[in-house]
Amino acid sequence: MRLLLSVSFQASKLNHQMIDQQALASRTNLRSVEHHATIGSTNTHAIQRLADGTETPFLISADEQTAGRGRSGNAWWSPAGALMFSLVLDRTESAAELPPYSLVVGLGVRDALQALSPNVSLKVKWPNDVYLEDRKVCGILVEVPPNDRTRLVIGIGVNINNSVMSAPTELRQRVVSMLDVHGHTFCRTTTLVDIANRVQNEVQNVGEERLSERWKQHCWLTGKLVEVTRGDQVDEGTCLGIDDTGALLLQQRNSLVAVSSGVVSRINRV
Ligand code: BTN
Repeated sequence: MRLLLSVSFQASKLNHQMIDQQALASRTNLRSVEHHATIGSTNTHAIQRLADGTETPFLISADEQTAGRGRSGNAWWSPAGALMFSLVLDRTESAAELPPYSLVVGLGVRDALQALSPNVSLKVKWPNDVYLEDRKVCGILVEVPPNDRTRLVIGIGVNINNSVMSAPTELRQRVVSMLDVHGHTFCRTTTLVDIANRVQNEVQNVGEERLSERWKQHCWLTGKLVEVTRGDQVDEGTCLGIDDTGALLLQQRNSLVAVSSGVVSRINRV
């Protein structure tokens, strides 16, 4: 009995560490799943796979990345224990008024992490992050391959079983991990299955739902005084949420401005 328990404990410990490709394939509608111990970037690899003719939807995951890519050309901290993957889907619509996919994907990731941690606050930070309490727990990089505009490469990095204690100093105050908050690890396979299914659902329904209602509940910037920079343009105002097109709503002294893209350069609590 003692031996059995010890074996199953070891198995469950391992379960937290490894991605079970078979479970991933059988519990999603993915046509193929590829897992790497180490890779440059799952997004870069996924774009190559698309060029090789791999059928969608498919997923590439990795335990570690040596050249993880973030938004605006930034590097992405990619330690062991984090969940890092690229989900490649067909693009449903191309109308300009559709919300940015990263925001829609963010809702799916948020819901999956919230299901694991009902007692903490998880929010979407416009335009492409998920925040746990007041720190970044997940980043999203959605790319449309230049030679195949009908596909979406959705790169997602979640700080799950890695500790921010090992993060570069400049990141440590801004990021958080599920492990650090809860004090235990999570099954990466189960979490990955849930995120992959929810994200596919969100992307399929894009354009059909009034997203502003859900974003209103889950927008981390709401109520804060925010500055958004895009090139030379700087907009400042109190955030009132996100509209159905995915634009950030900023209340200025005499007007309400909808900012469709940019980088949040400053945040103050009002
Ligand atoms: C950001 O917040 O700047 C976006 C970060 C996206 C990181 C993920 S990790 C998996 C995938 N592969 C990459 O190279 N980047 C994305």
